[in-house]
Amino acid sequence: MVKPGSDMETAASCLKAGEIVGIPTETVYGLAANALNAEAVANIFSAKNRPFFDPLIVHVHAIAEVEKYVLIMPEKAQILAEAFWPGPLTLVLPKNDNIPDLVTAGQNTVGIRVPSHPVCLELLKKIDFPLAAPSANPFGYVSPTTAQHVADQLGDKVCYILDGGPCNVGVESTIVGFLQGEPVIYRLGGISVEQITKIVGPVAEQISAGSNPSAPGQLDVHYSPRCKVVLSNNHTTPDSPETSYLRYTEPLAGIETERQLILSPGKSFEEAAVNLFAMLRQLDNSGFKYIVVELLPETGLGRAINDRLRRAAAK
Ligand code: TXA
Ligand code: MG
Repeated sequence: MVKPGSDMETAASCLKAGEIVGIPTETVYGLAANALNAEAVANIFSAKNRPFFDPLIVHVHAIAEVEKYVLIMPEKAQILAEAFWPGPLTLVLPKNDNIPDLVTAGQNTVGIRVPSHPVCLELLKKIDFPLAAPSANPFGYVSPTTAQHVADQLGDKVCYILDGGPCNVGVESTIVGFLQGEPVIYRLGGISVEQITKIVGPVAEQISAGSNPSAPGQLDVHYSPRCKVVLSNNHTTPDSPETSYLRYTEPLAGIETERQLILSPGKSFEEAAVNLFAMLRQLDNSGFKYIVVELLPETGLGRAINDRLRRAAAK
């Protein structure tokens, strides 16, 4: 059982040896391996129990690194990269041959991003290869936002867990692909649609789940706790001692505070995103049968949070 720590050298030497390491990013913790080493990447899939059809995101430390791994960068991709990197944006671009097919699930595109977490950037600069990293949770479960979350579920499967503190975004990166040079949003995430629109104008969205989604993060059953998650807005669940509540800014009147968690007492989407996965985990681990969740207003980061809540409820 690996204990999280801050030893950058250990993390780097595990990765150089083809092993997998839990790493901090600003969005969620990742389960990382050398993206250029297919055998190392295979370890990610087996540790997570992740199906091979679900491609991984590649992490690099600078925009200039991206050109080593992609064939072309459409003009609007360049503009978005300059606006939001380092940060919670993944661009899906035509891939170079040096990226193993395993990373991209055989697709001819690669999802790539420059994360902004300082510890992650320092690690990426220490090694001479990019890191493939999905979120560091068993497939289908809530993403980890602390090193301890990673240890709890994957501590016996990793070489090391690099602790960078709690993630300060809290939801995964926004994924953007390109069709004839025009951006298409595949997954809502840490950069809002409004932020993207402000930079490149109106963008298409292809977010709905399907049997063969272009970004399998779109699968309906993603982000599911073991408890039954119920959306409060279109459901009336009878209250019982087995029912817990995840609220946006205010507790429900007449219910004990021990059965309620508040995503953002300060009434902000950013704070709600930071708390989202940790609070779902906390309620999931408290022996309740139900988590009744309140949806947020459908704007900005509220949309990404609602997307995760709906998928958690879809199981
Ligand atoms: O914020 C994040 O993106 C985090 C941190 C660790 O960087 N990573 C993350 O990875 O959320 P993961 O594996 O949980 O979700 C990545 C999603 C997958 O659903 C995958 O299908 C999609 O990105 N993706 C990756 N490469 C793709 C590609 N070439 N085309 C379409 N979707 C892709
Ligand atoms: Mg994930």
